[in-house]
Amino acid sequence: MKHFITAADAGNIDILAAKALAFKTNPLMAQQLGRGKRIGLLFLNPSLRTRLSTQVAAQQLGMDAIVFNVDKEGWALEFEDGAIMSGNTVEHVKDAAPVMGSYFDMLCIRTFPSLKNRKDDYAELVIQSFVQYAGVPIISLESATLHPLQSLTDIITIKEQFASNTRKPKVVLTWAPHVKALPQCVANSFAQWMNTWGGADFVITHPDHYELDTRYTTGAYITTNQQEALADADFVYVKNWSTYTDYGKIYNNDPGWMLTPDKLQFTHQAKVMHCLPVRRNVELPDEILDSSASIVTLQAANRVWAAQAVIASILETSNTA
Ligand code: CP
Repeated sequence: MKHFITAADAGNIDILAAKALAFKTNPLMAQQLGRGKRIGLLFLNPSLRTRLSTQVAAQQLGMDAIVFNVDKEGWALEFEDGAIMSGNTVEHVKDAAPVMGSYFDMLCIRTFPSLKNRKDDYAELVIQSFVQYAGVPIISLESATLHPLQSLTDIITIKEQFASNTRKPKVVLTWAPHVKALPQCVANSFAQWMNTWGGADFVITHPDHYELDTRYTTGAYITTNQQEALADADFVYVKNWSTYTDYGKIYNNDPGWMLTPDKLQFTHQAKVMHCLPVRRNVELPDEILDSSASIVTLQAANRVWAAQAVIASILETSNTA
């Protein structure tokens, strides 16, 4: 593996997921792999799970992990090619990225979209600039449009929680209400990984006007009828996203779209997933989050093993190059 930015970078998802679950069984089985290597975690936006789980994963592989809050502690970066830098930006990514690349064996970047300009956000200028200029492998810790470490985690969680060998699980991604306009990245990414993986019957349900980019959703069954979607589901993944077509808007905040214990009755005793952070009693009610149906803590804990599998795969590629 060279970089980790989209599902295409994973290679065989079943093999990568198996590697993650092997690390869960034996966290220190490759503790020499990263000995003497450094990983830089660059944050342009906040994080709890991604930041901590990636550091733990790197340390279990023997690496030194250094976190840099670029947004708060670094010079304001410019990403526009040819910019006349007479405004607030102080340093161009063309200059900063190769310097950071010289300090680290791999770099991880978290950056959110502006939600103002769809073309710019979907061009992924920030993460692609690091790929172009850093000179080392790049791992996305969530970009403007995708969150691949979360999606790999979601698949390993589904695989370890689904017992049957005789049928595929039914997995439903359902839109939830929220008070803020959120990125589409978790939903885009989950759809991309589910469709690439192909190991589940995958359904997406959302209100009118919340269609996601078809480049990610093609292959899923999509319906605006949440009750129809939930029928016989084994897993329900709850997530809000803002509108894609009329970009970054809230068209609907109907609490009727919140998953409830009553709605779970339509499912096949579904496990409930959410990437966290979750706004309780807005996106999901206490009655579900505090019940045995919720696997959100297990899901978040699995972030370590997904990160460890990805970092190990990149180290293996680097060591044989
Ligand atoms: N799910 C997730 O990415 O969590 P953080 O934003 O806390 O990293």
